Amino acid sequence: EKGGFDHFMLKEIYEQPRSIKDCMRGRIYPTKGLVQLGGIKEYADKLKNVDRIIIVACGTSWHAGLVGEYLIEECARIPVEVEYASEFRYRNPIISEKDIVIAVSQSGETADTMAAIELAKEKGATIFGICNVVGASIPRLSHAGVYTHAGPEIGVASTKAFTAQVTVLTLMALYMAQQRGTISNSKLVHLLTELDNIPSLVEQCLKSNDTIRVMSEQFKDARNFLFLGRGSGFPVALEGALKLKEISYIHAEGYPAAEMKHGPIALIDEEMPVVFIATKNSSYEKVISNIQEVKARKGKVIAIVTEGDTTVKNMADYTIEIPDADEIFLPLLATIPLQLLSYHIAVLRGCNVDQPRNLAKSVTVE
Ligand code: F6R
Repeated sequence: EKGGFDHFMLKEIYEQPRSIKDCMRGRIYPTKGLVQLGGIKEYADKLKNVDRIIIVACGTSWHAGLVGEYLIEECARIPVEVEYASEFRYRNPIISEKDIVIAVSQSGETADTMAAIELAKEKGATIFGICNVVGASIPRLSHAGVYTHAGPEIGVASTKAFTAQVTVLTLMALYMAQQRGTISNSKLVHLLTELDNIPSLVEQCLKSNDTIRVMSEQFKDARNFLFLGRGSGFPVALEGALKLKEISYIHAEGYPAAEMKHGPIALIDEEMPVVFIATKNSSYEKVISNIQEVKARKGKVIAIVTEGDTTVKNMADYTIEIPDADEIFLPLLATIPLQLLSYHIAVLRGCNVDQPRNLAKSVTVE
């Protein structure tokens, strides 16, 4: 049932070109520059006028929420707050019937996320659910929503569910932009045409698997790891760190690259691997100077770069290429090599990647 793969996790990583495609099916019309989301269309008018969106989630789904914040603010110019469901619910949050709350959950059964929804509902907010499991509790508690349609995820560490959540949030951001007129139709045609091609770019990212497996040998005994990125590369860094710690038990932290000098830089020595999201986008030059800071302290740099990059290649110890795409699609591509990196490191360490210790697939306790 693992379809020839050694683990469900690897099978699910490889399913992503298909799961992302399934997630977009019937929802985008690139030549018309049109996004259709049947699950939230009743709220199209509300989206036109909403002043604020709050995203609540836990774990990997919270990371997807952080990508969503970047996407919705960038595309639809709506202020977004992203909250850990477990913190939101205990803080007497300020919310009203004017707000839209988006709850993101693979399983649709996470206790803290459900409690956050109930609280927001009591205060009159409109709830959208983004969920993978059809008919689960969260979609039933929500007023409206969009399923991710990634198919069942067996590996405890979320992979294809994360990229499907990011895909839905991308669709939502573009849908909101369309309702609010913040992106022109011709630009939407362009972006949706690129989005339609993302599954084949993800396929290309998977071709780095052998390179990553070989490189992982060098890092299997590391005791710590840092993951750094800027902009939408920051949540990708957080997700890379979470994936590594949960399946390999190596301590890892994700940080915004520029925050490194405010503390974590003290950790850097020749023993410290630092993974950079260093693709060609608006923060490229800044990330380069962060890489220099790490190299000056003899840290080991693994950089995720845009295909054909030479500048970073000359500075980093290892580079992994991903194809070029519009900046808003970067998280969907840059995540793939990080999933593979944690997978191979964990396998080399003899860990049970599909069922890491102490973790459950759905967390139904508070
Ligand atoms: C990490 C992971 C967890 C879940 C979190 C929320 O790989 O899977 O961090 O993301 O427990 O679960 P859902 O999305 O089911 O609400």
